[in-house]
Amino acid sequence: MFTDHTNLQRIESLPRRVGAGLLLGAAALLTLLAVTAALRAQEKNPYAGDAKVAKRGEYQFRSNCAFCHGLGARGGGRGPDLTRANKRHGTSDAEIFHNIHDGIPGTAMPAATNGGIGVGMSDEEIWQVVTYIRSVEKKVSAAETGDAAHGRELFYGAAACGTCHMVNGKGGRLGPDLSSVGSSRSSEALVESMRKSQ
Ligand code: HEC
Ligand code: HEC
Repeated sequence: MFTDHTNLQRIESLPRRVGAGLLLGAAALLTLLAVTAALRAQEKNPYAGDAKVAKRGEYQFRSNCAFCHGLGARGGGRGPDLTRANKRHGTSDAEIFHNIHDGIPGTAMPAATNGGIGVGMSDEEIWQVVTYIRSVEKKVSAAETGDAAHGRELFYGAAACGTCHMVNGKGGRLGPDLSSVGSSRSSEALVESMRKSQ
């Protein structure tokens, strides 16, 4: 059968075809790696504002995050409210992605990769969750932006909060340190606890 001319040709051209196949495979792999790297290095959410992606993110959130961050991301027993526009560990897309991807060292926030959460999430799934978080985030109202300088004056002055509370190292010790209370509690909860103490 090796005398068959066409067969011989086929056998001779085999290494070349395998070579071409390998090249194609390598090119595909490189493209894939480039896309993955692009997704990872992305500063901005590639799916920003996409309602369908937010829906997929909500599904991811329910199975991976809600038991700590609560339903609707409004905060639970073990994780803070994520609907707040100002986040303690960074508010940009890249920072939120990073906090989910790698976790927050020294806290109970696990990395979504490396088996930290469930079977581990892909970069794409993390962006889906970021899209979902953005979709439930409260818009910062004028009232919430407020006047921090005036608030500071009141805090240590007329309202005398500073006699009991410490903020960033300044103030009293009778009440809890409020340095990070703005990011760990919702504004409704804050207003409520101030009303109660009146
Ligand atoms: C085991 C509980 C737990 C799980 C599961 C968890 N988190 Fe967290 N997460 C935390 C805690 C606790 C913090 C607050 C860390 C700190 O500041 O002390 C946090 C912080 C964060 C922050 C930063 C908030 C800020 O104000 O900067 C983001 C964003 C976040 N988590 C998103 C997620 C997402 C998305 C998931 C699911 C993929 C998730 N977390 C799963 C416990 C958890
Ligand atoms: C006489 C001391 C005292 C003064 C004055 C005071 N507080 Fe408090 N505050 C406390 C104590 C004690 C707690 C903790 C017990 C509680 O939560 O009811 C607390 C709790 C809080 C909390 C809830 C903290 C949390 O982690 O949930 C907030 C917010 C707060 N105070 C804000 C204020 C503000 C704003 C002022 C000024 C308008 C103020 N407090 C004045 C003693 C004080």
